[in-house]
Amino acid sequence: MARFSNLIAVAAAVSTQVAAAADVFAHFMVQNSYAYDGAQWKTDMKAAKRIGVDAFALNWVPPFCDGDLSWQADRIKDAFTAAEQMNFKLVHSFDMSWSECDTYWTPSYMQNILSQHAGSPAMYRWNSNILVTTYGGDQVAQYGNAFFQGLKDGMKASSNSITLVPALSKYSCGAQSDPEGSAKRMISGFPSIDGYLNWQAWPLDEHKNMTVEADRAFQSALKKAGKTGPYIMSISPWQYKNLNNGNPWDAWVQYSDTLFPDRFESITKDDACQPDIIELISWNDWPESHYLRDLPSQDMGATDYAELGEFGNYVLGHEHGGWRIIAKYYISWWKTGKAPKITKDRVVYWYRVHPKGAACSGGTSTAIRNHMYPEDAVFAWALVKKEATVSMSAGSNTHKFHADSKGPSMGRVSFPSDLSGGVTPEVAIIRNGKTKHWSKGSQPITDACEWENYNPVVGVCRGQAKLTAW
Ligand SMILES: *[C@@H]1O[C@H](CO)[C@@H](O)[C@H](O)[C@H]1NC(C)=O
Repeated sequence: MARFSNLIAVAAAVSTQVAAAADVFAHFMVQNSYAYDGAQWKTDMKAAKRIGVDAFALNWVPPFCDGDLSWQADRIKDAFTAAEQMNFKLVHSFDMSWSECDTYWTPSYMQNILSQHAGSPAMYRWNSNILVTTYGGDQVAQYGNAFFQGLKDGMKASSNSITLVPALSKYSCGAQSDPEGSAKRMISGFPSIDGYLNWQAWPLDEHKNMTVEADRAFQSALKKAGKTGPYIMSISPWQYKNLNNGNPWDAWVQYSDTLFPDRFESITKDDACQPDIIELISWNDWPESHYLRDLPSQDMGATDYAELGEFGNYVLGHEHGGWRIIAKYYISWWKTGKAPKITKDRVVYWYRVHPKGAACSGGTSTAIRNHMYPEDAVFAWALVKKEATVSMSAGSNTHKFHADSKGPSMGRVSFPSDLSGGVTPEVAIIRNGKTKHWSKGSQPITDACEWENYNPVVGVCRGQAKLTAW
């Protein structure tokens, strides 16, 4: 049985009143919450809770840039009030990779903000300490181990001790080729840390399926060093970003075709890799194409309005909400230690809207790095309550596969060579020779594309019309 080690951890937590493991965070970009009010925060928290997310890791950037970004602290204040009412948790995730405006976090500002929320029941704690995460802290000269140690000492002196769990990009990237060596270097280079958030949820610039080797290496290095903080494993559905600025390093896709279910499968099947916490990357990072939230409103008066700028060219119309069905299924499995019973028919499917070889008319100031890695195919992940055949089509290409209530099944159908006029994929669930459910993709696949777009659209073939009704 998977999750054996975690069941022990939970039992121990009950008897000693320490923080229970097996929690799930979702990475939340505070930069995209400018229009949020309290009710909007609650709406997001409710949607996150529905799939088993326990906390948002609030990613924010130093607010000192001409006072421009100081509103972030106000939104975070609202988020705490909302979380208290929703019985939801929040974690500060300081973005320490940001150096725009030449402004940086200072220990005193961080201490001040952490202390402000220390009394809130919504503050996520680990063994009674405030849990603090970061993105980075190892690459920008203003930070580093001494900075972290100073922050910890300052918080301890004010009786608000923290458990520091940073995401250090150098070591996570290095772990792809040398997991154990990189984990060892992280431990010796950053003695101040208590736990680790391994940000690398995608194969880095390689046409390879991801393994959990790096996760295992970091987790065992922490243990060996006697660290008391959690190992946080990141899980993400995709990655594509295109800044369209002419710099070839600023437009990339990472090989993510079946990454999301594959990585979840690895923690439900593998006793040897059981993180203490999972962080979903991300809830609402639109430009990186790994958002799980429904798209933000484009109505400027809406409380979830987000200004997408050029990113809108590959984000708008590309809903990802169906991926939350996958997340919910595996999170429930991970938390309970057993596969959830399947009571409904659903096929989640996703596809890119142009073949990888297409020369699109926009967004092409540079070649997209790794653009040959994704397969030109429609991917499907099926959960059915009773034996069924799932039928997929993309123009003249079709594929059928068997699905049953024992667990998820997967299938794929390649893009046809003739895409003239655009081809819209279709998916059907067939039982006893009858089509029970049918769904057509929201967008066609075409080689007459207007923007380089490696961000997939996600559809759901299901009985219920509304996505939120599962
Ligand atoms: C990744 O694994 C899938 C099976 O889940 C396989 O079809 C695919 O070819 C693999 N990709 C690579 C690059 O090896």
